[in-house]
Amino acid sequence: MSGEGVVEVRTHGGACVLALRREQKLNALSTALEGALAEALERPEVRASACVVFTGGARAFSAGADVGELRDRDPASILAYYRETGAVYERVAALPQPTISAIAGYCLGGGLELALATDLRIADRSAVFGLPEVSIGIVPSSGGMHRLVRLLGVARAKEVVLLGDRFGADEAQMLGLITEVVREGDALHRALELAERLAGLPPMAVALAKQAIDCMPEASREAGLALERLAYGLLAQTEDAREAAEAFTDKRPAAPRPRADSA
Ligand code: COA
Repeated sequence: MSGEGVVEVRTHGGACVLALRREQKLNALSTALEGALAEALERPEVRASACVVFTGGARAFSAGADVGELRDRDPASILAYYRETGAVYERVAALPQPTISAIAGYCLGGGLELALATDLRIADRSAVFGLPEVSIGIVPSSGGMHRLVRLLGVARAKEVVLLGDRFGADEAQMLGLITEVVREGDALHRALELAERLAGLPPMAVALAKQAIDCMPEASREAGLALERLAYGLLAQTEDAREAAEAFTDKRPAAPRPRADSA
């Protein structure tokens, strides 16, 4: 199947929504779907957007890698895969603007890894999470184990990866895997609300804050502090920061002047 039509791109105010549309296969991430997603990331409306929202359908955000494609892969084709469509997860993670996953239904394996590559994850109560890879003799390998250890810590990551149990939205939130749980059917709506808020913020501050936070886990304390200060130094000189400071000062009542006879 060609990748055409399996990823729908639409703009919504300042945000762009990328919807996986291979619903008859529960949005299983075939190479065609990964390729279509990679192509969608290059679309002008995505590049111009202030926030990118990733979503699926009501039954599945995505049920993971297309298991039909997992058979008979030799080392050369596996290496080629990571150079080609398998690189899409890192491209999602590297987007300069904030990204949100709006999750309903199954969010398994590579589907969860895709969600982990975004900045915020909002799930409705129908969501079912899990990493079944170990149970089928492989491991999550689209950046998911690395991100999971960062997000949950070593012991919880081992629990999720080794045992491979499925769990719902409340447990995912308790683990820190998702940032918000909403009523069934509301995940995209809520994601778009947050996307609009993000789109209304000073864009350079948002982009640099995201970039700095992404660097922090790898950075020493000294490097992290230097990065904060350099980002501040750059941002403080922007029109957005100047205007915000002026608007704040203008709203404050003028400080009382000392009276001439009070000396
Ligand atoms: N890869 C390829 N096809 C998949 C798929 C996957 N990961 N997950 C679901 N599908 C397909 C099914 O083969 C089925 O196709 P068909 O109608 O042509 O037979 C269709 O999607 C619907 O799935 P089905 O299994 O009938 O739905 P269900 O509600 O009974 O079960 C799941 C849903 C998610 C529990 C089950 O599909 C499943 O376990 N999928 C595999 C999940 C997985 O192991 N993912 C990680 C791979 S590393």
